[in-house]
Amino acid sequence: MRYQPVIVSLVSLMVLSALFIPSRAGEEAGGTYGTKSFDDYQRPQACRSCHVDIYEQWSQSAMAIAFTHHWDEIEYFDLARRHVEQDPGLAGPVSGCNGCHAPLAWVSGLGDPPRPGGSRADESVSCDFCHTIKGRTGDPSFNFNYEVDPGKVKRGSREGGKSPFHTTEYLELVRTAEFCGICHNEKDPYGIWVKSTQLEWKEGPYAAQGVPCQRCHMPGAPGRSANTSQREFPDIAQHLFHGAHDPGKVKGAIEMRMHPDSREVEPGDIVVISVQLFNGKCGHKVPSGSAEERQLWLHVSAHCPDGTVYHIPVDLKGFEGESETVTSNALAYQDMGMMLGDLSFAGLPRDALEYEGDRIFCLPYFDPQGHRTIAQWNTASLGTDYRIGPRETKIETYTWTVPDDIAFGTVTVKAELNYRRLVKSIAEFLKVPDDETEAIRVNDAQTTFEVVDY
Ligand code: HEC
Ligand code: HEC
Ligand code: HEC
Ligand code: HEC
Ligand code: HEC
Repeated sequence: MRYQPVIVSLVSLMVLSALFIPSRAGEEAGGTYGTKSFDDYQRPQACRSCHVDIYEQWSQSAMAIAFTHHWDEIEYFDLARRHVEQDPGLAGPVSGCNGCHAPLAWVSGLGDPPRPGGSRADESVSCDFCHTIKGRTGDPSFNFNYEVDPGKVKRGSREGGKSPFHTTEYLELVRTAEFCGICHNEKDPYGIWVKSTQLEWKEGPYAAQGVPCQRCHMPGAPGRSANTSQREFPDIAQHLFHGAHDPGKVKGAIEMRMHPDSREVEPGDIVVISVQLFNGKCGHKVPSGSAEERQLWLHVSAHCPDGTVYHIPVDLKGFEGESETVTSNALAYQDMGMMLGDLSFAGLPRDALEYEGDRIFCLPYFDPQGHRTIAQWNTASLGTDYRIGPRETKIETYTWTVPDDIAFGTVTVKAELNYRRLVKSIAEFLKVPDDETEAIRVNDAQTTFEVVDY
């Protein structure tokens, strides 16, 4: 159903609300649906006149385009909404996408907003939305379980702010990771945690040390928070929200070293190369958030003196479900055929990467039929979590039989760790613009050994 901007009676509004309130996903949350209207919220431009720096920062972040960004538009309108046409029971959970991506639409009772380009759903995760949240309905935070109270009072993390435009109120929640978890933890209609950034954080060392999301994603710098403010602070919250869409945030997130077990080998010998990967920069696992579509893979190759290059596949560790953590082009994502009403659809290459046999650090999502999926709303189970946790070090080994005909001299072994936001085969199939599949080099390392003739 497409939204028609017509004047509707109170009764039909109530019927619509009943239809759109998530039947399963939002059972424990989402009670704010249709309780407010767009007019209760001020536009971000209204805040800009005094909070210029903060506005300019926020407007470059992914949260400012959470509803309008091309891939969000494609997944929501061309996949999830199409799925609802096949399975009307999903209308509730799919409308629930807006609880996080277009919260103004959600609280205004617009469960099926029009495509980007006109409605106030486009404001995405806006200033006034965040700063008029007054609480949450329970712990843990998840599935947009915010309580909202739009109006004159803007809630923040400091006491005593005086503004001619609004009043301010201190709210402890704003300073905490639980505030972010309201949208950064997600449970799907099958009861699966399909997004758990704040829960990952909570189990890790940063929570124990009292370092919430804000310290890394909204770092403090000296200054004033408004042009007109008399007060200066050493730690004004910069609304940067760097993440997967910022190569600079992703680069170096994992540090690497590597070494061979022997520095001198003969043709035909076996050499074992170890690579250590350390997550020293992230407060959660890598990848986190939309783990269903993020790729982080390690490619190792040996470069010989005569220019020959050999790909070295990773050693298997033998854990359950390990095949999902080794790159493969086997067919996957069959559920997209069902969503698009094409039952002859065979699937798409799972990782769509040049080499099979590389380690890929991931959390696999499976549909009810047991196929890999990138539709978090159609995820019935998860595979083995083989991502790199905060301050965790993983070691991968590469056992290589040195070819009999190898050239003598120095062999350089290179390890390249790459990151991609969206699997390429899916992007091509759904016509997602190329920038979403750009590969980012997270880090690299290299080591050498000599091939000698005794
Ligand atoms: C006419 C200028 C003006 C406009 C417009 C304005 N503000 Fe403010 N705002 C201020 C001033 C001044 C302060 C106090 C800063 C200080 O001294 O700490 C402030 C403080 C805040 C705080 C901090 C509260 C705290 O205690 O941490 C928040 C949050 C806030 N504003 C949100 C908004 C939002 C959202 C909008 C747009 C809907 C907005 N402001 C529009 C001037 C303005
Ligand atoms: C009202 C819901 C909501 C709240 C509250 C919220 N976020 Fe987000 N955030 C989102 C959505 C939706 C996106 C995805 C944007 C997109 O579609 O690309 C996002 C994206 C991000 C990104 C960018 C990720 C990327 O892929 O580039 C970062 C970083 C982030 N949020 C951090 C935070 C932090 C830190 C907090 C708490 C201070 C927070 N968010 C609170 C909804 C929210
Ligand atoms: C995703 C939610 C979110 C959005 C969107 C958001 N803010 Fe904030 N804002 C926060 C949080 C969280 C803090 C407090 C961070 C802290 O203290 O660690 C904050 C702090 C502030 C402060 C006080 C800064 C200080 O350190 O004194 C102002 C002013 C403010 N925001 C205004 C805005 C304006 C204006 C916009 C839109 C251009 C905006 N915010 C968008 C979450 C948000
Ligand atoms: C110690 C610093 C640190 C803390 C604390 C932290 N992050 Fe991050 N975050 C990062 C870095 C670095 C990246 C980029 C690497 C990556 O994508 O994982 C990142 C990436 C992200 C992404 C994009 C993930 C992806 O792969 O798509 C989101 C969303 C995010 N953070 C949200 C949060 C939220 C919410 C919290 C709090 C619960 C938080 N972060 C706490 C450093 C931190
Ligand atoms: C509980 C809040 C929540 C719900 C519900 C939710 N999302 Fe998201 N979504 C997020 C957050 C937060 C991110 C950013 C995570 C990250 O960057 O890793 C995100 C990221 C995405 C992305 C990736 C954006 C990019 O550019 O990489 C897409 C696409 C998306 N969501 C679509 C949907 C669809 C479609 C639905 C409904 C079926 C949905 N989301 C439901 C919070 C939510």
